[in-house]
Amino acid sequence: MKRIVGLFLSLGLGVSAQAAPDAALQALLADPAARQAAEAAGKKAVFFCANCHGENGVSKLPEVPNLAGQNPAYLLEQIRKFGNGQRRDEFMQGLIKVLKDDERLQMSVFYASQQPLPGKQEAAQVAAGKVMYEKLCWRCHGEQARGSEIIPRLASQHPEYLATAVIRYRDKTGERRDPQMSSAVAPLRDEDIKAIAAYLNTLP
Ligand code: HEC
Ligand code: HEC
Repeated sequence: MKRIVGLFLSLGLGVSAQAAPDAALQALLADPAARQAAEAAGKKAVFFCANCHGENGVSKLPEVPNLAGQNPAYLLEQIRKFGNGQRRDEFMQGLIKVLKDDERLQMSVFYASQQPLPGKQEAAQVAAGKVMYEKLCWRCHGEQARGSEIIPRLASQHPEYLATAVIRYRDKTGERRDPQMSSAVAPLRDEDIKAIAAYLNTLP
């Protein structure tokens, strides 16, 4: 792990302040049989979440994020942030409080195992968004926008949700707090954000 963090630092990604992936999750991911059992338990545990996040983690509501294919460590970290108030959303904060630790793990690995669904967007916007993505976001979120262990996947995400999230980091409205994100998106105008979000939605 030290070596990986060192590599990030030497690439100038500045992710040192990010929490290390959860040890229980790491152990689960390293054990295929335990992972499979947790995914099966997670599939049952998310029956209520499905009302908003969709049956298989692809939501039909533009303001509700897709969770399918998202990185499990990121999902778990966001659940933790809702739980301790570092991330604000009245409904999610209330809901997360009732989840036990093993349920959080099971839900995270279940959603991570599901298939994302890319969308279709206007070609000119997609092209403009790609240029800006490659300049400003690529170094952390990756070439295909699939993120990493600790950085979220953005590919196939709903454009409305993406735009709202980016604007919240940029304008420091308080719902989402992450200094690296706030500085990365500071130069963007609203129309740039729309274009980047359109591009990201089309990626598989
Ligand atoms: C009533 C609708 C609703 C239900 C039910 C719901 N969610 Fe959410 N969830 C949301 C919304 C809306 C957001 C986005 C909040 C924001 O804008 O920050 C969200 C965000 C999330 C995120 C953050 C995703 C990201 O990309 O950062 C996770 C993880 C999550 N929900 C997990 C769950 C789980 C697990 C359950 C079931 C225990 C659940 N949600 C049930 C509406 C819902
Ligand atoms: C220095 C690394 C870094 C750069 C550069 C960066 N990001 Fe991020 N991004 C992160 C991290 C870390 C998070 C998770 C923050 C949190 O926990 O709220 C994140 C979260 C996000 C989210 C929330 C995802 C979700 O599912 O809710 C969006 C959207 C996002 N970034 C878009 C972008 C865009 C667009 C750019 C380029 C303009 C960008 N990021 C550049 C590190 C970065």
